[in-house]
Amino acid sequence: MHLISINDFTNKQIVKVLDLAEEIREHPEDFQKLLDGKILANVFFQPSTRTRISFESAMLRLGGKVINIGDMAMTSTSKGESFEDTVRMLDDYADIMVIRHFEEDAVKDVKSISQVSLINAGNGMDEHPTQALVDFYTIRREFKRLNSLNVVICGDLLYGRTVHSLIHVLIRFNNRIYLVPGGRRGLNKDFRDNLEYLYPDMTRLMLFPETTLFSRLYALYPEKGLKMFSSEYLRSIANIQIIRSSDSGGDIKPSVLYMTRNQQGTVPINEDAQEYDPYPVITQILLESKFFNEPIIMHPLPRGPELPVSLDNHPRSRYFEQAQNGLYVREALLLLMLNVVKW
Ligand code: NCD
Repeated sequence: MHLISINDFTNKQIVKVLDLAEEIREHPEDFQKLLDGKILANVFFQPSTRTRISFESAMLRLGGKVINIGDMAMTSTSKGESFEDTVRMLDDYADIMVIRHFEEDAVKDVKSISQVSLINAGNGMDEHPTQALVDFYTIRREFKRLNSLNVVICGDLLYGRTVHSLIHVLIRFNNRIYLVPGGRRGLNKDFRDNLEYLYPDMTRLMLFPETTLFSRLYALYPEKGLKMFSSEYLRSIANIQIIRSSDSGGDIKPSVLYMTRNQQGTVPINEDAQEYDPYPVITQILLESKFFNEPIIMHPLPRGPELPVSLDNHPRSRYFEQAQNGLYVREALLLLMLNVVKW
């Protein structure tokens, strides 16, 4: 089996990964020889710190070995070898492959030719399913449940792939999502259409009611550069959306504030957009505001100015825990996808 999209896993399988991750955390000694003799190939066509190294560490902690195809300039890719041929060859060298590729379709295209399981570690701007599992595990450890939470997802929703996988998981487990894009980067139309298609019972995407919208936007923006937006403008760019699964009612206050970095630099972005819609920053003032005085702060990292280092010791910061949790979740994934532990 492959993990290309988070939707390749059923809800039951997602819960299984989280449960196993918890078991590994509690009793690491029970797992340390289970992947003896197995080889993982880490195939990264884009930079990575946490994802690649946590997969490597996960494999080593389970007794397995790792081949790193890190620097593609040193391989035959630089001689024009196709990605398909690279994967076909690695099939014989490894028992499982973790792939990160700058092109959305690259990993999808090779899944039919690969004899071994593939794990998508980020494909273009599309998805990052293992990060969503790490995020979800972090959420469950905090709240002891996976449903009926209010999650604010903030930042680059257009190009940031981690949020795409996370949104699916949150909806599937009946959570309410508030989207607060920065730099005019809301979810693209295809993604939103697909959500409506996949989850027809979900409340349709809506704009925030104007009054609360402004107070929330105010709160999210740094002291300087505050801007008011007309509701017409907001509607025209579909900038603020609420995604609400059908049966989540009750309190509207967020439990989680999930921030993401500006992908400028990773992808070409129109500079003008930032002038009209500056990128949000989490400030101390925001965290003391009425709406945001409870949520934990999450971020997939690496960070930019949106997540000041002064917040690192904040009692509600959870992003370093998130990174640490990556290890257990990825250990669980390797065990399950290699069929060493039963689903
Ligand atoms: C993310 C990615 O590569 O998509 N990194 C990660 O795996 N935690 C986030 C990012 O690069 O912004």
